[in-house]
Amino acid sequence: MAELPQNLFGVALVGSGSAIPSQSLTNDQLGQRVDTSDSWIRTRTGIGARRVIGPDESITSLSSKAALAAVEMAGWNLESIDLILLATSTPDDLFGSATAIQAELGAKNSVCFDLTAACSGFLFSLVTAAQFLRTGAMKRALVIGADQLSRWVDWDDRRSCVLFGDGAGALALEATSPESDGLIGFKLKSDGFRGNCLNLPQVGKYLSLASGINHQQGGFEFIQMNGQEVYKFAVREVPLILAEVLELHEIHPDKLDWLLLHQANQRILDSVAERFSIPNEKVLSNLSSYGNTSAATIPLMLDEAVQDGRIQSGNLIASSGFGAGLSWGAALIRWQGPA
Ligand code: UT7
Repeated sequence: MAELPQNLFGVALVGSGSAIPSQSLTNDQLGQRVDTSDSWIRTRTGIGARRVIGPDESITSLSSKAALAAVEMAGWNLESIDLILLATSTPDDLFGSATAIQAELGAKNSVCFDLTAACSGFLFSLVTAAQFLRTGAMKRALVIGADQLSRWVDWDDRRSCVLFGDGAGALALEATSPESDGLIGFKLKSDGFRGNCLNLPQVGKYLSLASGINHQQGGFEFIQMNGQEVYKFAVREVPLILAEVLELHEIHPDKLDWLLLHQANQRILDSVAERFSIPNEKVLSNLSSYGNTSAATIPLMLDEAVQDGRIQSGNLIASSGFGAGLSWGAALIRWQGPA
């Protein structure tokens, strides 16, 4: 086994929470807008409906709700939180929304920032937050994954609009002894050379500011996606990176309690599970209700399975996130839950 860095502290996953928008958009409703059908969407993706943020909700409000639920499960005092890390590509404020969550929660002693890594954002944030805890620099961290892709989807493009929805999920992480570490292993990867198959580019519009000086007008286009390329990327890279982490930590796939992948397409989930001979009942999926909520899928799914009792204290979970960047990663985690 390769030499692993020694950690001063372990990281315990002690609370989870989630929040979804109140508006639900079914496949049939979408079929009234674009040339698609419930049967096409279900067969090709496993998605039955998705949630859409309306006028009374926002990334900040959903994230705060999810975060508060995680804090309550963990039994924390809000003032004891050292870090609030928001994984999102769609903040309410381009300068970041983590501080707005801090203010809404009243978590006045936390340092807060956003992290953007598209659909891999939650996994990247989990690993980032863990580094502060491992070194002893911090004791308690809230990691939130939230996205509102409904803002940036072209609702007239049937090749992409059927996939996405909005939501938020959160995890409460606490420094613990190295022996009780709940982040057993991870691997993160990026490949900007293949980045052009999934983008949310700027509007390339320039206005005259003064004689001979132009400035760019802010704004973004719609999501641009080559679905087939993203699909091929996911079914190739996710098994490879999961296998790498499992092998490094000498864990056989049959020791896993759950497979918790980024919820992008049921066919991707099935393909990865098949590669490791993981039975369907160990594969967590809520695609039929929420579709792809980007950085929110993993904590949203995790919280749902904690709440309904599927995930139990001590369960071993293999997780993988993947998406724009391109970015992808895998983590082996052990759910502890509240003390
Ligand atoms: O977080 C990562 C985010 N991105 C992803 O996860 C995307 C991964 N890719 C996918 O999930 C799949 O590629 C899609 C679901 C996007 C598309 O499924 P596919 O099986 O790869 O379909 P396709 O693009 O090969 O299209 C097959 C046919 C085409 O018609 P023709 O050319 O064969 O006549 C499409 O025009 O299906 C048509 N089509 C649709 N038909 C009805 C594409 N979208 C739709 C639709 N409804 N919504």
